[in-house]
Amino acid sequence: IIHQREYLLNGELVQWNGDVTEIYSPVCIPTKNGLERKLLGSIPNIGPKEALDVLDACVKAYDNGLGEWPTMSVEDRIKCMQKFVYLMIKERDLVIKLLMWEIGKTLPDSTKEFDRTVDYINQTIDALKDLDRESSRFQQAEGTIAQIRRAPLGVVLSMGPFNYPLNEIFTTLIPALIMGNTILFKLPKHGVLAHYPLLKAFQEAFPKGTVNTLYGKGSEIITPIMESGKVNVLAFIGSSKVANGLKKLHPKVNRLRAILSLDAKNAAIVTKNANLDVAVSECILGSLSFNGQRCTALKLIFVQKDVAEEFTQKLTAAVSAMKGGLPWEKDVKITPLPEVNKPLYLEECIADAVSKGAKVLNENGGYNEASFVFPAIVYPVNDQMKLYHEEQFGPVIPVVPFDDIDEPIDYQVNADHGMQVSIFSEDPMETSKLIDAFVNLVSRVNINCQAQRGPDVFPFTGRKDSAEGTLSVFDALRSFSIRSLVAAKITDSNKE
Ligand code: G3H
Repeated sequence: IIHQREYLLNGELVQWNGDVTEIYSPVCIPTKNGLERKLLGSIPNIGPKEALDVLDACVKAYDNGLGEWPTMSVEDRIKCMQKFVYLMIKERDLVIKLLMWEIGKTLPDSTKEFDRTVDYINQTIDALKDLDRESSRFQQAEGTIAQIRRAPLGVVLSMGPFNYPLNEIFTTLIPALIMGNTILFKLPKHGVLAHYPLLKAFQEAFPKGTVNTLYGKGSEIITPIMESGKVNVLAFIGSSKVANGLKKLHPKVNRLRAILSLDAKNAAIVTKNANLDVAVSECILGSLSFNGQRCTALKLIFVQKDVAEEFTQKLTAAVSAMKGGLPWEKDVKITPLPEVNKPLYLEECIADAVSKGAKVLNENGGYNEASFVFPAIVYPVNDQMKLYHEEQFGPVIPVVPFDDIDEPIDYQVNADHGMQVSIFSEDPMETSKLIDAFVNLVSRVNINCQAQRGPDVFPFTGRKDSAEGTLSVFDALRSFSIRSLVAAKITDSNKE
């Protein structure tokens, strides 16, 4: 049990004596009232006044670009980041344990999340070295010589989701930081304690005021921060509704850069020409990794009617055999859900589909106890059902039968989101036709494989309500900086 009372303000771990928020695990324990979520600890619940103090520290550390951090050489910023990685790795075991307890992620996936984050930071350091080499070159055109420098943007508010509390948040926080911006880090609702062991690492590795943390209710503390107009970049991963609300609070929204990764209801399209075994195993990975709680998860599976029966039979057999249990248990794939209201919401979505003619194909599908929900395959789903439109972000697989491949294309044309799609077909002509259609509708087309963000060096973005800006190891460094020109006329004296 961790009762955290500190928050990071201007290089100090300030002790908080006020209100706290208790943190509960999705892992439930038997009590006299039945199964209940286990208490893991508590965190500070700071108020608007303290939040504005945190903002001020961040603004002062940036000091209009004249502060110690934004003016530090790239080599020295890299040294600070390397120190952070060194300190972070020392906390590996504890962070992995906290990820399992706090968000219910399995041991292999929690381990992967930690190691992937370390790799991401190291790749970012290498990418910055390349970018710096590129920036120090001089360019000449039309009698002018110029150096194009990469300069920071200012104060970055970094907020991210519970599903990858470490990895996703660090895909904005780390590149923003290493480019010389100062950071206001709003911790996620679940996965907050997993960051506790890293607070000291931030404190020790970076100059004071460079990284500052915010704990509390978003509506109370983020509203005054956005209304202050002092945030230069909003780096947010979550829903488009929240992102739009936050942007609107800024008094000069044209001065705000937004790097956003948002809604997605990625479709899989299984045609009659698919290898159904590949389609089934990849659709399961895509739909049910971390219980379907990924923005990149496959959340709707279109299957051509000719093969719908065979596909759903194979899918049902494979899903029924999946093991549910606790995150640290061997071979467990399905684990308890951190969001308290999620089991009820999923139950409602399934009931809505069933009331409109669909069935749950697997016997144990939708089994629901306390925070645990066993995956349900719902078939046949159509556009009258919630599951066709809403991002379930949980272990439910809606399967939609179709006749003509124009039907899934129409779905994507009319959708408000456009992140990824997975096409399953062994016919090159058909695949090529689908690629050509979808490449202009989403930001990644996967062929005979599940949807996913990685490898992290590849661009990660989306169309419509799915994203703003691009995140990848390389793109993020550019997203969190501006190209600032130092230019002079070429004269006899500077020609060489
Ligand atoms: O929730 C969105 C995550 O970025 C997904 O990452 O596709 O690597 O699991 P992933």
